[in-house]
Amino acid sequence: MRKPIIAGNWKMNKTISEAAQLIGDIKRETLNQSVEAVLCVPYLSIGKAKEMTEGSGIKIGAQNMHWEENGAFTGEISPIMLNELKVDYVILGHSERRQYFNETDETVNKKVHSAIAHGIAPIVCVGETLEQRRDNRHKEIVRDQVKGAFLDIDKNDAKKTVIAYEPIWAIGTGETASSEQAEEMCALVRNTIEEIYDAETAESIRIQYGGSVKPGNVSELMSMDNIDGALVGGASLKSSDFVKLINY
Ligand code: PGA
Repeated sequence: MRKPIIAGNWKMNKTISEAAQLIGDIKRETLNQSVEAVLCVPYLSIGKAKEMTEGSGIKIGAQNMHWEENGAFTGEISPIMLNELKVDYVILGHSERRQYFNETDETVNKKVHSAIAHGIAPIVCVGETLEQRRDNRHKEIVRDQVKGAFLDIDKNDAKKTVIAYEPIWAIGTGETASSEQAEEMCALVRNTIEEIYDAETAESIRIQYGGSVKPGNVSELMSMDNIDGALVGGASLKSSDFVKLINY
């Protein structure tokens, strides 16, 4: 049985004091404990977020990291820095990182290796552009992204990762993939994992859908066989919406 996982991706939003306010508001509510709640906050707020969520069951994630432990990489954050803050998850290969910061399947793969080596569970993002979908290349693109991200990753390590299928055309646009479209692609991701490893690994890995997930569409998405969770941007910035997502 795969435990549902709903992760908020705050992106470049909230100062440390605003983060503390939002986390305080979330903590005041009763959260369904059978759903894993994750907050992927900006680096600066990770320490505060860990401190405030201790003992609550809420997990904390980073939104990116470098694969090296240290060195001349101005502006970057390393896995050992995240380890000191006891970060649980790290989002890797988000489409905004691929689009604006030149991340490739190769760098995503290096980061997946590094995160696993440092005991941080990766949330690996994959997804096609609108143009790729119109050209009917979306399946091939997503399959290649999954294969690229998991290159030379051991099967037992693969089981610790979460994969987020996020069609780029549905991110921040208010346009959600239909539940059927989301399910079809999450099933394709699972089949790809089965191709790389085996059925047991494919069955155990958790796959999220992301792209304009809101309180109004979350339960239908979560009712799909191959959708085990959601990666949520916009709706994770409002406590009442995020709580509704956790308690879908
Ligand atoms: P959105 O973002 O929920 O605002 O569409 C999702 C994401 O980018 O992870």
